[in-house]
Amino acid sequence: MSKTYITTPIYYVNDLPHIGHIYSTLVADTVARYRRLEGDDVYFLTGTDEHGQKIQKTAAEQGIEPIALADRVVERYHQLWQQLEMTHDDFIRTTEPRHWAGVEKIVARIAEKGDLYVDRHEGFYCVRCETFYTDKELLEGDRCPIHETPCDRQSEENVFFRLSKYQDALLAHYEAHPEFVRPESRLNEVKQFVAQGLKDLSVSRTTVDWGIPLPGFEGHTIYVWLDALTNYISALGYGSDSDQLYRDFWQGDGARIHFVGKDILRFHAVFWPAFLLSAELPLPTTVWAHGWWLRDNLKMSKSIGNVVRPDYLLQDFGHEALRYYVLRDMAFGQDAGFSDEAFIERYNSDLANDIGNTLSRLVTLSRRAFDGALPPAKGDGLKAEAEQAMAEYRGHMEVFSFHEALRSLSKLNQEISQFLVRNEPWKKLKDESQKGEVAEVLWAGLEALRLVATALLPILPEKAPKILESIGADVPETFTEGALSWGGLGTGKTLGAVEPLFPRIDKKEYLKGAEAKKEAKDAKAPAAAENKEKRSGKGKTQASSAEGLISIDDFFGVMLKVATIQTAERVPKSDKLLKLSVDAGESSERTVVAGLGKAYEPEALMGRQVIVVANLKPAKLMGVESNGMVLAATADGKPVLLSPESEVPAGTRVK
Ligand code: MSP
Repeated sequence: MSKTYITTPIYYVNDLPHIGHIYSTLVADTVARYRRLEGDDVYFLTGTDEHGQKIQKTAAEQGIEPIALADRVVERYHQLWQQLEMTHDDFIRTTEPRHWAGVEKIVARIAEKGDLYVDRHEGFYCVRCETFYTDKELLEGDRCPIHETPCDRQSEENVFFRLSKYQDALLAHYEAHPEFVRPESRLNEVKQFVAQGLKDLSVSRTTVDWGIPLPGFEGHTIYVWLDALTNYISALGYGSDSDQLYRDFWQGDGARIHFVGKDILRFHAVFWPAFLLSAELPLPTTVWAHGWWLRDNLKMSKSIGNVVRPDYLLQDFGHEALRYYVLRDMAFGQDAGFSDEAFIERYNSDLANDIGNTLSRLVTLSRRAFDGALPPAKGDGLKAEAEQAMAEYRGHMEVFSFHEALRSLSKLNQEISQFLVRNEPWKKLKDESQKGEVAEVLWAGLEALRLVATALLPILPEKAPKILESIGADVPETFTEGALSWGGLGTGKTLGAVEPLFPRIDKKEYLKGAEAKKEAKDAKAPAAAENKEKRSGKGKTQASSAEGLISIDDFFGVMLKVATIQTAERVPKSDKLLKLSVDAGESSERTVVAGLGKAYEPEALMGRQVIVVANLKPAKLMGVESNGMVLAATADGKPVLLSPESEVPAGTRVK
């Protein structure tokens, strides 16, 4: 049995999961399910990346310990993966002792090789990428090429890894194993990056203590990417005495596939293999870089405020519709835009119509014609089309071209419909002399549908078996024994009535309802109204769910903090607006413009503690830039400020 090891990136715990994060795991899960059906012995890993400056900073902003933040977000991942029926075999956290053991072991091997040395390091660091960039890579204004936000200039004594030493070995590896980076366009990017010349890599931090101490280097913490990448082997037992999984899935000759987003390709296709070469360990066989889900043509990002959270999609459409949409509508490897409109169109055309209608039509006709049972005889009317579709499906799934695989299945669905229209079995039901022909036509339609539903098992893990049960077919455990070959459906078996699996959604009504709910909620919650502009993309956003309720994820998207008003003055020519300078526990004071002028004299506000929304996009009010919003309850048209009951440190998170 061939062994296949499949991994997702491990997710940072500074944020709750959005569609972009879910996508990598849905893809990996689909491949894991498919490979198991094809008979492989699969091990599928996911997990969380919990160390580093980003997590340390977010936890400090929330006034909690990093591990408390991690525990909370990890819980959300566990719930979500359960809801999405992910079939991972393990979930690794980088704060677990078994992971530390693996990291310490690989670092020791790298050190023994003489590949670590100490030097002073100066450079621009993007906390969100957790990486240094060279001057050449930065955008104008020393901004990160991925996030486009300013990088910090940092200068510290670091431990360096001799990355430059592995330049030729890496280039030789790409040449000998072009499948190492997929798709091909990404391989070329990686080759170009390495061929331009590799600089040694800083692999320790002295200013970040939330991480694994670097043995032998007092005061140094292991760089978060060296720590994180090692999860792929520490989870298999590398570094521990019970390392059978490591021997089976990393040292054997099976496939070792990392699915990652294109933004983290360099870490996986350059740094990771270089660490492994240094430690003299096997490399992954393939690093597969997928594109980004965009919203309004921008990568989803919490700071832009355009992320799509999964809650409302799961609630309104179910997890399988989400899985189908993301696999069908993104050409794997390229970017794709996410919209509710496209989601509903895809759902209605492929699931409600092509599959749902075909299923109910075939079962209803067969029951009517043959006393509630499957046709008594077989027919080959769709054999050639079905065989071609299955061959295409498998070919595309082998190379992870999910959208093409699903397109082949859709084509076969449409061929079933056209076949029925051409043969009009419904006109022949009462004519005994045509019963044989009706049986052959309906059986061929049902058999083609059986093949479609079988092929959909890795994508619709609950609904595909239901389709098979509705047509009296077996749910196969494997594809290797002819489950995808023509002819497997029986004859004459009694059928039950079909329950609707994919009820059609009225797109206009849905979008109208979603918009109305959003407006009602925005009117109730001024903070959400201010955010409206951020989320003005087509269709509904994470905030809109049934009954106008928001999820805990939505709530945590609004950062509320205690701030102390340092100065307050009237905005010229306005009797309503006050310009406040507040201490929100940050490196400098921020200016917030608030509509408090009719209710409060500026002098009365100085020194007072208030609650501010700290992550609002800046807005200009009467020519003054406001960076946040002060919360007040409005009674009889007058704002009444909200304050903590007793004094707390400025910057304390409100939740
Ligand atoms: N912790 C690192 C990965 C370490 S792996 C050893 C990390 N974490 S992340 O949480 O920021 O991102 C995890 C994955 O989500 C990445 O593959 C990233 O590309 C993916 N996505 C995040 N936003 C995305 C989209 N909008 N669209 C598709 N995937 C994107 O990076």
